[in-house]
Amino acid sequence: MKLNKKDILKSLESITVPGEGQNMVESGAVTNVMVFGDEVVVDLTIKNPSLQARKKTEVEILKIIHREVYEKAKITVNVKVDAPAAKPKTNEIKGKPIPGIKNIIAVASGKGGVGKSTVTANLAVTLAKMGFKVGLLDADIYGPSMPIMFDVAQERPLSIKVDGKSKMKPIESYGVQLLSIGFFTQPNQAVIWRGPMASKALNQMIFDAHWGELDFMLLDLPPGTGDIHLSIMQAMPITGAVVVSTPQEVALADARKGVAMFQQDSINVPVLGIIENMAYFTPDELPNNKYYIFGKEGAKHLAEDLEVPFLGEIPLVQSIREAGDVGRPAAMQTATPIEAAFEELTKNVVSEVVKRNKDLPPTEAIKITTMAGCSAVKKK
Ligand SMILES: Nc1ncnc2c1ncn2[C@@H]1O[C@H](COP(=O)(O)OP(=O)(O)OP(=O)(O)O)[C@@H](O)[C@H]1O
Ligand SMILES: [Mg+2]
Repeated sequence: MKLNKKDILKSLESITVPGEGQNMVESGAVTNVMVFGDEVVVDLTIKNPSLQARKKTEVEILKIIHREVYEKAKITVNVKVDAPAAKPKTNEIKGKPIPGIKNIIAVASGKGGVGKSTVTANLAVTLAKMGFKVGLLDADIYGPSMPIMFDVAQERPLSIKVDGKSKMKPIESYGVQLLSIGFFTQPNQAVIWRGPMASKALNQMIFDAHWGELDFMLLDLPPGTGDIHLSIMQAMPITGAVVVSTPQEVALADARKGVAMFQQDSINVPVLGIIENMAYFTPDELPNNKYYIFGKEGAKHLAEDLEVPFLGEIPLVQSIREAGDVGRPAAMQTATPIEAAFEELTKNVVSEVVKRNKDLPPTEAIKITTMAGCSAVKKK
């Protein structure tokens, strides 16, 4: 068997490094391939510093070369980690809707309580761990949950001068820049905003804040498909939306509405995909058992039916809830199945964003002429 570099590179094209949307050859992660008889040396520079990501990538390389090129090849993989300070390769990500902010991703659900905020918080910390610059705007002005989930409920954003103008400085926690209406209200105060006030508050958090350079801004939306959603899409050009659902029928019906809201002609925000949360329950004492309490693969089937990508599933695990309550997102805990599930999910979201930016022009903010209905929504 005569091994050659070309075949090896070709086989490596089917591997994507966590956190990088392109395959490892295109992304530049493979820096060199050398072949000596039946020995192969692959030099790799990856941006994800986690040991787990490194191991996983190494194993994938061995497997693919053995399977697709030569099963007896002796393979050495030299991994160099170029992180965390290094900026990930995001030059594929086009469109600068708000100066400095490359991608704005809205997280929506339709039904309340399905875990949008939990998923958003964990996506944000996972992106940050991968080396991306991440902002999170808690746009749930009726029930802000991010200050608690990030253990910063007592903090208040400072005002700083930027180019002579006063700007709010987001609070940083676990590498994520955070703003939430929760920072400006008393913890026990019910927030009863009328639509215009709510939009104003949101606008301030978007435009009167100093977010700096961000690869991703995540928006945690309130449940439903109402006025606030329209206000947000009016305020900012959203790169794409992800819709969270549990596998349960009632949640799926609302998720369908959520997808439809983004997809209607007048709004036209690309749906990056559907996330299945609380996909199954696994008790600590029976780690191999999966109980499909809310039904099995409902969100996955919905994604197939609507022909949108299925981004991944997150199990119902007590520690995810506990982590949210103590203010340290569960994905922060390294070398756990939860971290792995969120890494997988995040990787899929990033690749969908990269795909979307390759295929489609940037989303335009929309102009809403009346709040009466979506039919009155026009492109600016
Ligand atoms: N995968 C999970 N495993 C265990 N608990 C979870 C999981 N996802 C969410 N939860 C818990 O379920 C509850 C609701 O989650 P969360 O607040 O994230 O939902 P939401 O969709 O943002 O709700 P709302 O519609 O009120 O904004 C929280 O107590 C959270 O800790
Ligand atoms: Mg929420």
